[in-house]
Amino acid sequence: MNFKHSQKFYRPLGGRQLFFLSAVFASMIGVTQAIAAVGIVADPVIGLNDPIMGSKHDFTGLNERAGVDAMEGLAYTDYGNPCVYCHLPPEEADTDSELLGGIEGWNRFAPAEGHYTPYSSPTLDAQLQTPGSISLLCLSCHDGTMALDMVIFKPGNFRSEDDAALHMRMNSADELTSCGRCHNGFTAHDIAPKVLGTDLSDEHPISIQYAGFNWRDRDFKLPQQASGFSNGVRLYDGNVECASCHDVHNSTNELLLTVRRDILCATCHTK
Ligand code: HEC
Ligand code: HEC
Ligand code: HEC
Ligand code: HEC
Ligand code: HEC
Repeated sequence: MNFKHSQKFYRPLGGRQLFFLSAVFASMIGVTQAIAAVGIVADPVIGLNDPIMGSKHDFTGLNERAGVDAMEGLAYTDYGNPCVYCHLPPEEADTDSELLGGIEGWNRFAPAEGHYTPYSSPTLDAQLQTPGSISLLCLSCHDGTMALDMVIFKPGNFRSEDDAALHMRMNSADELTSCGRCHNGFTAHDIAPKVLGTDLSDEHPISIQYAGFNWRDRDFKLPQQASGFSNGVRLYDGNVECASCHDVHNSTNELLLTVRRDILCATCHTK
């Protein structure tokens, strides 16, 4: 079972927390079935007031917000459910998406082994790993190779005849299957800065084990708890992931950073 969300219990008990509890329950069922990986199911009705709504990761209102007709329904399928682009829909709570080629616990497909070039450096102490599931979730859109709407489970009430969309990928190519068709800096804002690609060697290393659990490294500060730092910078099974520095649900900082940019690096690094 996964307790990594427990640091969030200080928040008022809203819909997401209630759903977190049902995710815990679902994972208890998962234990008795002896299968791994139970995802966080997300109900769009309960999540109606979630801070993710209206944010860059709310893909149900893009046309309205941008004042165009070209996004949901045309550039990608409108599932009528803002959560399902990432989360398993409630009716699939007990399904192990990994068995269907999905990313463990999430409603998206995992790329083939070796798809990414990781960060590497001679001074890196931590052993490099292939991206963990929460980073794979982010990369499944942000590497630009998979369509935004390429989910494993469509919501139960979705009718396939409504699927009249192109299935665009988040990259800057001038192709019929790329958001870059419009998002080129002229027709619409340039999407390129948001696309990491598959070569991660120039990004901050991810899915690396953080010093302080199994070994001490004086270049790094000790986290207050296993789930990370009390200022909101998080660790996932002791690892640094995309979501250590970005919070798609609850951030009030620029670029969805978990803490302000000027204190982010020094949360972990001593120099
Ligand atoms: C862009 C992807 C994305 C979308 C869209 C999304 N979520 Fe999440 N959600 C996440 C991530 C990532 C986490 C895990 C955060 C963590 O583990 O720290 C999460 C966590 C949660 C949790 C667990 C509780 C918590 O605080 O960690 C709930 C419940 C949840 N989301 C509900 C929803 C609902 C409801 C919607 C739709 C309104 C939604 N999510 C849309 C990515 C997404
Ligand atoms: C379903 C596709 C999808 C997934 C999954 C996804 N994103 Fe995004 N993300 C987007 C889109 C689309 C944008 C907006 C791009 C734009 O503004 O041009 C975006 C924007 C962002 C931004 C920039 C926000 C800003 O203010 O400009 C950050 C940071 C980000 N995402 C991080 C993440 C992280 C971290 C995860 C994983 C926890 C994640 N994303 C998962 C599609 C996705
Ligand atoms: C037919 C042209 C077109 C296509 C295709 C298109 N967009 Fe847009 N998009 C626009 C325009 C125009 C705007 C409004 C101006 C701007 O923000 O640059 C916009 C705005 C946005 C915004 C900002 C909305 C907000 O709330 O801040 C995001 C995010 C976005 N688009 C994502 C995407 C993604 C992801 C794709 C591909 C899956 C895509 N768009 C495909 C034309 C398009
Ligand atoms: C160690 C912290 C850290 C990690 C880990 C991290 N980021 Fe970031 N990210 C940042 C910071 C700081 C910025 C803003 C400054 C910059 O562009 O470098 C940023 C910028 C971004 C942007 C917006 C770029 C722009 O200019 O609009 C996106 C999208 C993004 N990150 C996604 C991701 C994804 C996906 C991952 C995992 C593969 C990830 N980040 C891992 C700290 C991090
Ligand atoms: C969540 C903790 C955390 C945060 C926040 C963080 N880092 Fe890191 N960073 C690490 C870890 C862990 C490593 C891997 C170190 C190792 O194993 O040698 C690392 C590695 C690096 C490296 C590569 C060092 C090398 O030897 O190749 C650079 C550069 C770096 N970080 C810069 C930054 C910057 C700049 C920021 C702020 C935008 C930042 N880090 C934020 C944890 C963090």
